Formats: sequence, C-alpha cells, structure tokens
Amino acid sequence: MPNDQLRAIVQQMPKAELHIHIEGSLEPELIFALAQRNGISLAYPSVDALRAAYAFTDLQSFLDIYYAGASVLIKEQDFYDMTAAYLARAAADNVVHAEIFFDPQTHTERGIAFETMINGIWRACQDGPISAGLIMCFLRHLSEEEALATLEDALPFRDKLIGVGLDSSEQGHPPEKFARVFARCRQLGLHLVAHAGEEGPPAYISTALDVLQVERIDHGVRCLEDAALTSRLAREQVALTVCPLSNVKLRVFGDMGSHNLLDLLDAGLLATVNSDDPAYFGGYMNDNFLAVFDALPLSRVHAQRLARNSFLAAFLDPVQKQGYLDEVDRFFATI
Ligand code: HPA
Ligand code: ZN
Repeated sequence: MPNDQLRAIVQQMPKAELHIHIEGSLEPELIFALAQRNGISLAYPSVDALRAAYAFTDLQSFLDIYYAGASVLIKEQDFYDMTAAYLARAAADNVVHAEIFFDPQTHTERGIAFETMINGIWRACQDGPISAGLIMCFLRHLSEEEALATLEDALPFRDKLIGVGLDSSEQGHPPEKFARVFARCRQLGLHLVAHAGEEGPPAYISTALDVLQVERIDHGVRCLEDAALTSRLAREQVALTVCPLSNVKLRVFGDMGSHNLLDLLDAGLLATVNSDDPAYFGGYMNDNFLAVFDALPLSRVHAQRLARNSFLAAFLDPVQKQGYLDEVDRFFATI
C-alpha cells in the first residue's frame, strides 16, 4: 500500500485516546494567555522562549517544566478552556472517545480548590464534541497519606470519575507504595490504572498488577525485558497505553526507529497509541500514529488492530464498546 494511503487511513480511522494528561495539553500560547488573564508573571519572556525550554533529557526534566506550566490554572474557566481545547483537537484527529488524566495534587498544593478544578474539566467534557471520562491520578513522588487525603477531597465528586491512576516520577516510587489507597479506590468501584515500566523496571509492572490490581498499564514498554511478564501480559490481554512521541522525547528510546511498538504487537500484547502530554512532546494522536507508521514497518492490518485495541482497552460498557469496534471494522471495510 502506498505510504500516503496508509497515512490517510491512520489519520481518518476512529480511535480512542486512553493516555492523555490534561495538564500536558496546555499549549504555550494558552499558558501565556492564562498567565495574562490571571496576572501571573512567567519565568519566560515569550511563547517561543517557553517552547525553546522544552528540551528534555528524561522524565524528571519534563515534569519540572510541566508542573510550572500548570501554575497558570487558577479559575474554573481556566480548567474549562484547557480541556475544551484538547477535546476539539482530539476530535480533529478522529478521536471519538477519550479517558483523560488529571493531577489534582498539582493544583490543590497551590491552594486551588478541588471543586474549581474538577468542575471546569467536567463541564468542558459535558460540552465537548466527543465522549470523555476522567481518571484522577495520584502523584507518586508524594506520600500515600497525601494520596488518601486527595481521595477524601474527591469523594463528593465520585460520580465524575471513571477511575484513578498513578503518575509523576517513577524511579524509586514503586506501585506498592500506594497499596492502601488503591484498595480503597477498588472498593469504591473505580477503574484502576498506573504508569509503570516507562523509566521504571519491569518489576513495577508486576506489582502494579499484583499489589494495586490495575486493569491497564500506562506505558509499560519496558515489559519486553522480562519474558515471563511479557507472556503474562499477552495471556491476560492487559492493555498498555503506549506513547511513542513521549518515549522519544524523554529518551526511553533513542529514536522512533528504535521504538518497540511493533515488537509489543508481535508479542501479542494489547498495545495502544496515545499522546501523553501533546503540548510538550510534539504532537497529538495523529502525530503519534504518523510518527510510528513512518518509522516502523507497520501495515494497514496493524492500523486496524491499534484502532480496535484502543476501544478494547477503554472503560466503556459492552454495548458502547461493540458499537465502536463495529465502527472501526466498517471503516476498514470501506477503504
Ligand atoms: N509519566 C509520568 N508522569 C507523567 C507523565 C508521564 O509520562 N506525564 C505527565 N505526568
Ligand atoms: Zn503519562
């Protein structure tokens, strides 16, 4: 198949996004606009200067600037505007369903009320062009006590959440540090996910599954270092929410040609493609799809599989899920 035809297919196919940090969708232009609106002075003189600072060497070097960028979010409307911009951008890439992470502790630590943040994000999802669910992430560099306090803050808004996750600095903060808070979330009927095996070792993937009992692994690309774990992930069809541009920007892989997405698929894993922090890593969903399809020997069969995987891995009810899978299959039957 000619490459431009395959490129058109991956752009046009219906897809779900399952790994997007909403604070990571904050574009430099919006950071500047919100800073001005809220009377905040930034450490960078211009949009270009801020963008020029996006030269990351690892996860921590990114997180430092990502948390600084989020400091312009003060009012409910700010959270609304950020989320509305992401949803419009996702829809343009034929994302029809998104499961969106947000980091409440990044905001409550700055004195922003939990309700200010969640109401803005939630209202934008209600008004948005695609279906969306919210996954509240705990910051793993903070303590489990702080995560438990955040869960308390979230209880009045339980109905607005589909699940909880675990993000921020991975190394030295293993999943088992959050065993109690995840057990409590499970009792509340929340879906569970965790970042694991991005920079951290494959053992973190195992403990996320065994101790936290998560249903999906965010990133998980280092699983291939452990053959027994890889077989398990294939057997149990545990979804991995892979983020190709993020992995290259944060130097998990040296370049896109070295990315292991095709190896994950060849190992029978339920891998998906996602954008992670699109404003920081150089692209939204279709940019990620195009980057891997340009760099790796992926075919139309892989495109259909990745589109199907995104819905198979989504926290949708069975009827909705089948509806989206049928939509994917109809799309591929007509092209
Ligand atoms: N990893 C961990 N924490 C994060 C990420 C990520 O890729 N993006 C935003 N917070
Ligand atoms: Zn992430």
